[in-house]
Amino acid sequence: MTSILVIHGPNLARLGQRQPEIYGTTTLAEINASLASAAAEWGWEIRSFQSNSEGAIIDMIEERARETDGVLVNPGALTHYGLALRDALAALAVPIVEVHLSNIHAREPWRHASVTAEVARGLIAGFGWRSYVLGLEALHGILSES
Ligand code: DQA
Repeated sequence: MTSILVIHGPNLARLGQRQPEIYGTTTLAEINASLASAAAEWGWEIRSFQSNSEGAIIDMIEERARETDGVLVNPGALTHYGLALRDALAALAVPIVEVHLSNIHAREPWRHASVTAEVARGLIAGFGWRSYVLGLEALHGILSES
């Protein structure tokens, strides 16, 4: 079975309550449920992980890398400076799609750069919770062609 690792970085556990004017009112559990239901239609499974710690995310990537066919990642603020996370993602042989709820290019200048997107196939930003679903659809297209 195709297995997708979904990684949620720092502060994303509080989605729904955290700055809803920027990130929306959808919770992380609801996003994970939407992804699981889209994945189930293709006979895929989703494994979701959230941590506020870059090291914990890297440990989890090391543990699960071998059983993963693709990665969907919202690195949160690690997007902009998380070089250790970037290196861990770069070491993976599977396709990576980066997603953001907000349009990082329409926000503060320091959010415009993504060190992690440099090792991803592509980046989807600005569509709220739908960014995740669009990202999963992108992975579906990539993996169907390979
Ligand atoms: C975010 C954008 C980041 O700049 C921010 O630090 C986040 C969320 C997004 O999904 O829009 O935590 O990744």
